[in-house]
Amino acid sequence: MKEKIFLTRTLHDFALKELKKKFQVEIHTGKIPIPQSKLKSKIKEIDGLICFPYDKINKEIIQLAKNLKVISTYSVGYDHIDIQYAKKNKIRVGYTPEVLTDATTDMAFALLLDSLRRISEGDRIIRKGQWNQIYGAYDYVGLDLQGKTLGIMGLGRIGKTLAKRAKAFDMKITYHNRKQISKTEEKKLGVKYTTFEKLISQSDVISIHVPYTKETNKMFNMKIFKKMKKTAFLINTSRGKVVNEKDLVIALKQKIIAGAGLDVFETEPINKKHPFMKLENIVLAPHIGSSTKETRIKMAEITIKNLILGMKGKRPIYSVGY
Ligand code: DGY
Repeated sequence: MKEKIFLTRTLHDFALKELKKKFQVEIHTGKIPIPQSKLKSKIKEIDGLICFPYDKINKEIIQLAKNLKVISTYSVGYDHIDIQYAKKNKIRVGYTPEVLTDATTDMAFALLLDSLRRISEGDRIIRKGQWNQIYGAYDYVGLDLQGKTLGIMGLGRIGKTLAKRAKAFDMKITYHNRKQISKTEEKKLGVKYTTFEKLISQSDVISIHVPYTKETNKMFNMKIFKKMKKTAFLINTSRGKVVNEKDLVIALKQKIIAGAGLDVFETEPINKKHPFMKLENIVLAPHIGSSTKETRIKMAEITIKNLILGMKGKRPIYSVGY
């Protein structure tokens, strides 16, 4: 009898074909994310799970598992999984870093460019038939990137790649991280370490690249916005809950900061009535950081490799916890 694996959503055909050669495969169809009630009943009978960022693989779910060997998430973020509890129960957890670094970095940089050059705002103006001013000295003016200070909050893989992009645009780059990187690497990347306080108060653009944890929960709030430059922009492609959205709405409305570019939100998808919808100084993207054709294929490859290794009792290529 083949072992049973369950996918909370479908994956590329090549990935499913590969999985079906080895396992008995069941794929959830219907409501996305999968309802907890269905997950609760499925988890009892499966040996391996492929999940996605919106699925809540918490203690309540994991404790119902009887034969589960591995959880393989189709994402770099794993804040939706109770890693400690999985570890305690000797369940492997695989995730997909590296392959999505470029795509996610490009998204952060695209939001940065869009925010400073007001591309989406201009698009809205044209579509509404409101393009009345042409080429005026003050019309639709944005800001140069060159010479502006980019503050990178969290210098992991994506933060470092963002530094390379920003360097090519002649930006000054500072970063704050739990650990300062070596002087040699700082020189190579063209980045300067700074304190969190200085990063907040001196940056023209702050881009967030920290994982979501108890410590980073609503880390960017009114207290922080008030310390930022009035002309500064906030870019977030990490996790929505790192930012206090209510505070951000006020900060943008009252021009406490100049603008924001977001790919992630506290609750996704955001509600049609979300106050962000009424603001002009914000660029919104539907959590598409890793969403390129090439990257999504690479993520699927890693996701199934991680799962297959875990099913053999081995450590996934990219593994957290056990
Ligand atoms: C991830 O993989 O965690 C990203 O948020 C997807 O864009």
